[in-house]
Amino acid sequence: MSGSVKNKVVIVTGSARGIGAGIAADLAENGARVVIADLNLDAAQRTASKISSAGGSAIAIGVDVSDRDIVRALIGETVSHFGRLDVMFNNAGISQTCPFLEVTDDDFDRIMKINGRGVLIGTQEAAKQMIVQRHGGKIINTASIAGKQGYPLFAHYCASKFAVVAITQAAARALAEHKITVSCFGPGVVKTELWDQLDREFMERGLTEKREQAINDFSQSILLGRVSIPKDIAGVTTFLAFDASDYVTGQTIMADGGMVLI
Ligand SMILES: NC(=O)c1ccc[n+]([C@@H]2O[C@H](COP(=O)([O-])OP(=O)(O)OC[C@H]3O[C@@H](n4cnc5c(N)ncnc54)[C@H](O)[C@@H]3O)[C@@H](O)[C@H]2O)c1
Repeated sequence: MSGSVKNKVVIVTGSARGIGAGIAADLAENGARVVIADLNLDAAQRTASKISSAGGSAIAIGVDVSDRDIVRALIGETVSHFGRLDVMFNNAGISQTCPFLEVTDDDFDRIMKINGRGVLIGTQEAAKQMIVQRHGGKIINTASIAGKQGYPLFAHYCASKFAVVAITQAAARALAEHKITVSCFGPGVVKTELWDQLDREFMERGLTEKREQAINDFSQSILLGRVSIPKDIAGVTTFLAFDASDYVTGQTIMADGGMVLI
């Protein structure tokens, strides 16, 4: 791949585990200096230590992506430590299985606050820092197949991921004049702790009978015939952080094994 992420300073939110940890590890292997930013600071510190032990450069910072002051502090601390911010991954997100007619106002607000508002805040605050630096930058948001299709057991989650796609398109148009690109990637079914939680919820609601039935049922339509792991997504996320993707903006690149073809 042309270009590089060597020495680029990259924040990845929600990177203590799961997809975010995979994004950060791959970037660090490629020479980036990464900030493991997560609500769970202990877990973030363990992930940062693992990267450092493998020869990479990483620090951990606690953050709640839905709180603007805390996100500003995250960016401030990153710049104090590494001198600048080149790439921002707004990846932190939560999900919930809930039949359409049972989604409550609180369910909707909780998911939108982190997945929707969190991405708006992360995009705006990263962009403000990049504008001050005057060298452009890249902002990469985690969408989903749920940002392209509505699923009956995930209406509020889908709404939040459609919001991620909409914020990305709007931001790409707003920030191009500052040489800031804004893109999304869209995973399908990734075997992380998030799916352990969804699997439990399917069983608690009587929608499935045994462990892993939910993830297996949901994965029947994957053209490549298997669920993914975070490593499967990292090629696309690292590409989006590389100079090789400099002419890409406003797009959602699907990394879903062929679940949604648009
Ligand atoms: N796993 C999948 O199948 C899948 C598919 C498509 C999209 N996604 C999206 O990928 C992203 C990561 O998912 P994952 O499967 O790795 O989930 P995960 O639950 O394994 O990890 C999410 C991480 O985000 C952190 N987090 C949660 N709320 C936060 C907040 N308010 N502020 C900061 N950090 C917070 C958690 O502590 C955790 O470390 C999410 O946006 C999710 O919606 C996941």
